[in-house]
Amino acid sequence: VTAALASPARSHLDPDLVTLLDDIRASLTRAFRAAGDSVTLAISGTGTSAMEAAVANVTEPGRRATVVVTGYFGDRLAQMLARHGAEVSRVDEVWGRAADPDALRSALRANGADIVAMVHGETSTGVLNPVADLVSIAREHGALTIVDAVTSFGAVPLDAGGWGIDICYSCSQKGLGAPSGLSPITFSRGAIDRRVACRSFAFDIGLLQTYWIERKYHHTISAPLVYALSAALSEVDAEGLEARWGRHERHHRQLVDALATLDLSLLPPPAERLWSLNAVQVPAGVDEAAVRSGLLRRHNIEIGAGLGPLAGKIWRIGLMGSGSTAENVERVVQALRDVIARR
Ligand SMILES: Cc1ncc(COP(=O)(O)O)c(C=O)c1O
Repeated sequence: VTAALASPARSHLDPDLVTLLDDIRASLTRAFRAAGDSVTLAISGTGTSAMEAAVANVTEPGRRATVVVTGYFGDRLAQMLARHGAEVSRVDEVWGRAADPDALRSALRANGADIVAMVHGETSTGVLNPVADLVSIAREHGALTIVDAVTSFGAVPLDAGGWGIDICYSCSQKGLGAPSGLSPITFSRGAIDRRVACRSFAFDIGLLQTYWIERKYHHTISAPLVYALSAALSEVDAEGLEARWGRHERHHRQLVDALATLDLSLLPPPAERLWSLNAVQVPAGVDEAAVRSGLLRRHNIEIGAGLGPLAGKIWRIGLMGSGSTAENVERVVQALRDVIARR
């Protein structure tokens, strides 16, 4: 991927570059397990841009959106839907626990919804939400579904077509292991049929299709990012999706076992854990920021801090894409042992 980034840049309409775009669409359709008639491409921008693209194409003032909120990024989805004029209601879960399908069912029975939005892998809490169940409940109520797969895509089982997700988006820098800047998104045929007149020029899926499929200028895509995403997707195809999910699960379990030898445990209960992002509880009396900076300074390993109500309470250890390896698990646990012992 790094070598691909350094290839000579070509124009956004260069014949070789647009061939890569076709390959990327095909690989992304496979990786999302999206239906054959879906519209699948990559948004120029980070995961937040893909989130905005999902929302902007199906939201207009007066549409009722129910958002399942289990952490920071579910809250961001709710904010974004409100900015686009939706009447937003929330089904909140305590941070560190997965969403309760019955709570969504009750909310929809009481109020109905045009759109149900949720995060699959909640990066702020290390929780994996039961998206297949949540989507099925939303569909029973005729709602269109938006699923944030930013931290789950390429790392844990996801089946956009099989689960009946209408719009699913991700990013390039997590499970795929490319630099940030080109964010995969897929729209089902039903979502395309139910879209609104999009107020965003940059993220209008109709205009984006004219570029990605009909080769008409819409914006100047970054050629180096296209090369990098294409190289990363070749690795996904070579490894195989299920083998890749299995690798993420194996190294997650290896980390959990190794952390136990340091008396460290994860925040979410075992059945609700996201393999690519591990939320580790900071023991009482330990200065979490000092441990993070010690890891970076002494061992050149960066881990994340807690967000919102979990600030100071958890560390977030990413094991995703090419970073999900047995060696990395050993390194981070040894480094944690060293830094915590020095306190
Ligand atoms: C679940 C989730 N959604 C959305 C985003 C936003 O993605 P980005 O930072 O690439 O804009 C992130 C970022 O970490 C995320 O974890």
